[in-house]
Amino acid sequence: MTRLLDSRPEPDDATRAGDGSLDAEAIENITDRKESEQEVQRLDGHMRKAQRLEAMGALASGIAHDFNNILGVILGYCEIALLDAPEGGHLRRDLNNIMIAGERGRALVDRILGFSRAGAGEPSAVHVEQVVREALNLIAARCPAGITVESQLRAGRAAVWGEPTQVHQVLMNLATNAIQAMETGGRLRVGVDVEDLQTSRAVVSGTIGEGEYVVVAVADSGCGIAKGYLDRIFDPFFSTKDVGVGTGLGLSVVLGIVNEVGGGIDVRTTLGQGSVFSVYLPRVGDADDDAAEIREAPLPRGKGECILVVDDEEALARLAEQSLRKLCYVPETFISSTAALAAFRANPYRYDVVVSDERMPGLSGSMLLHEVRSIRPDVPTLLVSGFIGADLVGRAKEIGADHLIRKPMSMRDLATGLAKVLARPAANTAPDGS
Ligand SMILES: Nc1ncnc2c1ncn2[C@@H]1O[C@H](COP(=O)(O)OP(=O)(O)OP(=O)(O)O)[C@@H](O)[C@H]1O
Ligand SMILES: [Mg+2]
Repeated sequence: MTRLLDSRPEPDDATRAGDGSLDAEAIENITDRKESEQEVQRLDGHMRKAQRLEAMGALASGIAHDFNNILGVILGYCEIALLDAPEGGHLRRDLNNIMIAGERGRALVDRILGFSRAGAGEPSAVHVEQVVREALNLIAARCPAGITVESQLRAGRAAVWGEPTQVHQVLMNLATNAIQAMETGGRLRVGVDVEDLQTSRAVVSGTIGEGEYVVVAVADSGCGIAKGYLDRIFDPFFSTKDVGVGTGLGLSVVLGIVNEVGGGIDVRTTLGQGSVFSVYLPRVGDADDDAAEIREAPLPRGKGECILVVDDEEALARLAEQSLRKLCYVPETFISSTAALAAFRANPYRYDVVVSDERMPGLSGSMLLHEVRSIRPDVPTLLVSGFIGADLVGRAKEIGADHLIRKPMSMRDLATGLAKVLARPAANTAPDGS
């Protein structure tokens, strides 16, 4: 007879019936043992997965911090270059695309930090069509020559509740797959529409309830998906692509996001003719401001106020210096928080605002601002950090920082932050991260 548990000894003869077969109680014992062994294996697997995730989280937050600083330099110099780029020209359009990509990168870092620590970025009403339009610019820029990109954007300002980067990731992953499916060229069509479902609908990811949805559809005229693969394409690490081309994570990320916002995803495909992926995102009214309009609005400028800036990353300190000069302020930069404190102590009324990075060796930004405030309680302060979570907001409140800026800090963030703190009485006002 076949052994149930290969690594274990055979049950002794007393458990065997007269004909040598196992009696019912022995079989039950072995089944119990096997089940508990499977349970142990399952828990062990969960534990190892949790440990792996924890290690990944720590690694991700380290990378995110450094990446944020790199992004800060890219975005910062791009913003400075934009100030001199002629209206309506190619250069301005290209620089704007760098800014859009950089801002998405910044939002992505937020998500990575949110994954590795509690409290991800704040969700808000996302202007889907706006995000899709921005992503389309990036897609068109990197699309191979034989592929035409068409779009039909008909959702107006319809919004979904989440983060813009989620919508961006969904579209980028679906469009990348579509492009990869059309090796010999073809048509990539992207649509955004509002659909009002009167009854619930069964889709590939499950059932979506009745109500209004913003539907993002990505269609290609590529190879299509074989029937046998259709129920596996959303599995993590399922890929039919060569190593180095696909990791098999794109669609599982898409599905994760869609589930997170309470939506659904549907797929229609014909082998050799193409596929259509339709993502249903629950609508939450309309989005208000147009991000592009905000980006184009004139920057508030200073009137020669002296700003003390501290960042231990020299490139970022120099960038802040240049940005402040462009904004008509007089910067004084330090890459050491203790040196900055000494300068402030020596001449506290020389500075109109103190701007400090949070994460610095020795004296952190919040410690520095606390010291600065104890020397001169009315000095306006700005704290800059790569991760604005509940912890930092609490700490900032305690020390009385007037305003928080998320890193990488754009020139616009800096300009509006300074205008805000200079326009209001500095002492005893609650900080905010807006
Ligand atoms: N538009 C499409 N046309 C044909 N096949 C597709 C399409 N989209 C997805 N697939 C199939 O689904 C599989 C899984 O897609 P997924 O995006 O999850 O991973 P990937 O594209 O292989 O790798 P990654 O996205 O991580 O680079 C793909 O390998 C491919 O076989
Ligand atoms: Mg993919």
